[in-house]
Amino acid sequence: MTTWPGYQPLKRTLIATLTGQVLEIGAGKGANLPLLPPSITWTALEPNPRARRTLTNAVQSASGERRVLAARAEAIPLPSASIDAVLSTAVLCSVDDLNAVLAEIQRVLRPGGRFVFLEHVAAPPGSALRRMQRMIAPITRVVDRGCDPSRDLAPAIEAAFATVDLTHYTAPGLLKIPFIAGTAYL
Ligand SMILES: C[S@@+](CC[C@H](N)C(=O)[O-])C[C@H]1O[C@@H](n2cnc3c(N)ncnc32)[C@H](O)[C@@H]1O
Repeated sequence: MTTWPGYQPLKRTLIATLTGQVLEIGAGKGANLPLLPPSITWTALEPNPRARRTLTNAVQSASGERRVLAARAEAIPLPSASIDAVLSTAVLCSVDDLNAVLAEIQRVLRPGGRFVFLEHVAAPPGSALRRMQRMIAPITRVVDRGCDPSRDLAPAIEAAFATVDLTHYTAPGLLKIPFIAGTAYL
């Protein structure tokens, strides 16, 4: 297991690699906006109206080409092969149909395009934390915008993409929450 560099430093490192036309799915209230390289053209999807309102306001004072679309990642309103990189941070735990989202990400990526992600994931099978994640999932789905902490995202990403460069981390602290971060290539 690789040493946990911290959520923000990890995000900063991943986001700094983005170039060209970038799509962020589930951008929320725009936590990643200040980290974006100024040169990229950034399109954000956010289905939640309240979060989208905050995001749209934040974009107005941000520099660079930035726009916000009201859409879910299961049906991305962009042409096929039009995007250089898709970004997702703490989103795949909440989407309704993970396989549909991964298929849509592949559809919009240009040949040679990349999917860059940082996500919390299920703990190892048989662990106490995994059992707890499964127990609380019905509650977090309701109170935390659809979040299912027991989703095993790494195998799904590895099955969907030809090449995946993925690192497993465990965040320090009482819960020792497992994360994955990396890049998947078409
Ligand atoms: C935990 S928040 C993370 C927000 C942001 N990515 C961040 O790192 O701060 C999860 C976000 O995913 C969005 N979301 C949920 N289901 C989605 C879907 N099917 N497609 C796209 N975004 C979705 C939620 O509205 C919410 O803004």
